[in-house]
Amino acid sequence: MYVADDKRYDSMQYRRSGRSGIQLPAVSLGLWHNFGGVDNFENSRAMLRHAFDLGITHFDLANNYGPPYGSAEETFGQILKKDFLPYRDELIISTKAGWDMWPGPYGNLGSRKNLLASLDQSLKRMGLEYVDIFYHHRPDPDTPMEESLGAIDTAVRSGRALYAGISAYNAKQTAEAVKILRDLGTPCLIHQPKYSMFVRDPEQGLLDVLEKEGVGAIVFSPLAQGLLSDRYLKGIPSDSRAARDFFLKKKDIGEDRLAKVRALNEIAAQRGQTLAEMAVAWVLRDPRVTSALVGTSKVSQVDDNVAALKNLKFSAEELHKIDGVLAGRQAA
Ligand SMILES: NC(=O)c1ccc[n+]([C@@H]2O[C@H](COP(=O)([O-])OP(=O)(O)OC[C@H]3O[C@@H](n4cnc5c(N)ncnc54)[C@H](OP(=O)(O)O)[C@@H]3O)[C@@H](O)[C@H]2O)c1
Repeated sequence: MYVADDKRYDSMQYRRSGRSGIQLPAVSLGLWHNFGGVDNFENSRAMLRHAFDLGITHFDLANNYGPPYGSAEETFGQILKKDFLPYRDELIISTKAGWDMWPGPYGNLGSRKNLLASLDQSLKRMGLEYVDIFYHHRPDPDTPMEESLGAIDTAVRSGRALYAGISAYNAKQTAEAVKILRDLGTPCLIHQPKYSMFVRDPEQGLLDVLEKEGVGAIVFSPLAQGLLSDRYLKGIPSDSRAARDFFLKKKDIGEDRLAKVRALNEIAAQRGQTLAEMAVAWVLRDPRVTSALVGTSKVSQVDDNVAALKNLKFSAEELHKIDGVLAGRQAA
């Protein structure tokens, strides 16, 4: 029987999500990859247990994580039943709907029909009565925002979710969504944007909106799917995400990219960090970021990503050097 480490809250740092009552671990674990029906169950289980032992209280899912779609929620449900039921009230579990999930016009995007049916399916797969956060996974330009966010509000009011979240909405859409949710009486707890040294769009207004509105930011793919680590410095390992050539494409790991990764790796070494650690620390340098939402394929990566928290401070000179590398000014 799994017994969680009784020191699990000793060293993890927690940050408040906007102006809410919820604190999230500075590093959260996402189940997009490596928790599907095709993956090794015991490895998935070991990563979740280890994460929780280190104080990672937040696990992030979505309806279609797998493969196959839905299977990460099934895996999570099985592990929850075996290991985590005594700890349910110590966990923040999220899921999402809005990307393709089942065939036909109701299994995708932002209709009330899709979002509420999907949430019911997710709860069943995970064996949960409620999730802590239910997200609209992406904006849907063809559905009125009032309808999508009204469905999230219903999810919360009906007790199937405790908090509302949005993902991938741009700054303008976010300002609008936050207002709609507030008017409905279900404030937006959190936004989930993509953010890393390689993808800096949230700096163009989104983080400002979130700060002003008191909404948290949990940023996904802070390692740029593994590129911002030492994983690809000597080629493409056969067990890596890029080897699958689907979400992370081999063609995106060209010499230009690798030159930047090598230069960043050197800066990380000067800071006494691995590049993965520095990538996590870099997103967390901004106090508007509530949590870095990482993925992992092995237990050792959980350790490495949490080790980032030992050094979150960057000197102005280090930040300048990093910006220079990213801009291609000093990529060596
Ligand atoms: N809202 C959205 O639209 C959206 C979209 C994407 C993701 N997400 C969420 O964000 C989570 C994280 O996304 P992500 O998996 O792309 O994040 P990521 O942390 O940028 O990338 C994770 C991958 O990086 C590699 N890695 C992780 N730690 C490492 C380390 N210490 N050293 C070397 N390599 C390391 C592993 O790749 P290998 O497998 O190659 O070892 C791992 O699978 C997802 O699980 C999901 O919950 C949300």
